[in-house]
Amino acid sequence: MIKISPSILSADFSKLGFDVDRAEKGGAEYLHIDVMDGVFVPNISLGAPIQKSIRKQSKMVFDTHLMIIDPIRYVDDFAKAGSDIITIHLESCDNVAETLEKIRSYGIKAGLSIKPKTPVTALKPFIGMFDMLLIMSVEPGFGGQSFIPESLDKIRESRALLPELDIEVDGGINADNINEVVKAGANVIVAGSAVFGKEDVASAIALLRKNGEA
Ligand code: DX5
Ligand code: ZN
Repeated sequence: MIKISPSILSADFSKLGFDVDRAEKGGAEYLHIDVMDGVFVPNISLGAPIQKSIRKQSKMVFDTHLMIIDPIRYVDDFAKAGSDIITIHLESCDNVAETLEKIRSYGIKAGLSIKPKTPVTALKPFIGMFDMLLIMSVEPGFGGQSFIPESLDKIRESRALLPELDIEVDGGINADNINEVVKAGANVIVAGSAVFGKEDVASAIALLRKNGEA
């Protein structure tokens, strides 16, 4: 069983509530919220107030992906704005363990993410401190990029290292490549353009699930 996590980065922000609702009614279990600060990545997206306003209307698992430097500064804001999972980047701070611990102190899940050039072995010192691993399959910063094929090896290596853990993959996943990503060992699948870039969001989610579980 896989979980689909549509990324609102590809939603239409002029009707964000409508898009979130379409994803939820279409059967998405998670909602992926991409937070970018223009420093850790070369793009700025959205902050906790926006997450807080959509929290009121949705029961999905809020899967907050912080692409910001020193994320410990914002754990409190996002936890209070309704995150169920907060994922930080290994590359974004010197106090990874402390930040993961702070996230868990709110009774929510802590995720740890690595960029495409960061090896899986870099995670080893933090095993046991996070509840989900997020493998970036594009350079973080923008939706709509192509899946980096070498990510498949990283997913396999991670699954061998962490047989029981949730492994999420983010970037360039669509109905054509989702099966390989799941077969390699991922069980939480982020999709931005492949969901919100489609006219029929519910069918897009259903197709991802069908192909992912085939
Ligand atoms: C990229 C973001 C992704 C992105 C995925 O930095 O973390 O979540 O929105 O979008 P697609 O699925 O279009 O690659
Ligand atoms: Zn993301």
